[in-house]
Amino acid sequence: MLKNDLFLRALKGETIERPPVWMMRQAGRYLPEFRALRDKYDFFTRCRMPEIAAEITVQPIRIVKPDAAILFSDILVVPQAMNIEVEMKENVGPWLPNPIRSAADVEEVIVPNIEETLGYVMDAVKVTKEMLNDEVPLIGFAGSPWTIFCYAVEGKGSKSFDKAKGFCFSQPEAAHALLQKITDTTILYLKEKVKAGVNAVQIFDSWGGMLSPVDYQEFSWKYINQIVEALADETEVIVFGKGCWFALGDMARSKASALGVDWTCSARNARYLSGGNITLQGNFDPSRLLSPIPTIKKMVHEMIDEFGKDKYIVNLGHGILPNIPVDHAKAFVEAVKEYNPARF
Ligand code: CP3
Repeated sequence: MLKNDLFLRALKGETIERPPVWMMRQAGRYLPEFRALRDKYDFFTRCRMPEIAAEITVQPIRIVKPDAAILFSDILVVPQAMNIEVEMKENVGPWLPNPIRSAADVEEVIVPNIEETLGYVMDAVKVTKEMLNDEVPLIGFAGSPWTIFCYAVEGKGSKSFDKAKGFCFSQPEAAHALLQKITDTTILYLKEKVKAGVNAVQIFDSWGGMLSPVDYQEFSWKYINQIVEALADETEVIVFGKGCWFALGDMARSKASALGVDWTCSARNARYLSGGNITLQGNFDPSRLLSPIPTIKKMVHEMIDEFGKDKYIVNLGHGILPNIPVDHAKAFVEAVKEYNPARF
């Protein structure tokens, strides 16, 4: 039995004392404890060593004390398992030496045996669950097929992902074949994570907002929805689409338990677009964590007032930035725990 189940109760839409809180990318570079480990092992080595991944996962639980843990790993371990080489370059980010640019390249991509290729993630889940000792739930995650496709085709990060979009419009058949392979792999992968012990999963569609609403349906949502359909009977599924406010209506009609919102969409608009009945998660601008601590607390309380305390999970609108002082991250979490709707 979980000692703190606020997060899971919010996902089920139950009435709770206060909303739960966690932060996207909470296991990461703003923590000196993380940086100490980073200096010892390279990025994917850290992902592949279950004890290290578990240690990084629980660091923010000890230090910042959010209501849920998210497994330390990366969305790009999935394309690696699919026979697409991925490196993480210091100060550059993801680097794929052989990007996918043709139907022949897509042919080379495999839907792998998950146990053989990503068994180390399942081991990390098991070690993490032991370390967490049922204090808080553990979130597993994957990138959306579109977001993985963006890196696979572009070969690196990008401001606009034009090559990825160009591939969709110039070679739609090959693009759909690749998106389907990523989708099939992701379903198998997330099902294994659930079996290994995660309590919920989040799908990160970090680059969905690069697409027009019509193209979003065709190249992103269609595939995310296959994943949601395949997982919904086994676990709670959160869909976070950065810049995808226009799709909140379709997302709300799916079997997802909650929807992530970024800071460009107001709470009121997000509630309106999602039909008012589904749990929402977000949407504090991560840069706002550079404000003085009393201001952070005030803004968090206002954000909860706007979303409402029920059917709501407090989070940032995207990942925490590396330059955020740890005390400010702590203040964000404390503000939620101190929230009192009758404070006026
Ligand atoms: O705390 C957590 O959220 C768990 C761990 C996590 C990481 N990446 C660790 C990481 C999660 C959930 C991710 C998801 C991820 N990875 C996304 C989706 C979320 C988002 O931010 O949009 C994306 C697009 C990636 C791909 C990726 N990985 C990029 C673009 C980069 C480099 C830039 C950056 O943000 O650091 C990474 C590297 C990465 N993944 C780091 C961490 C802690 C930093 C690597 C390091 O410096 O050691």
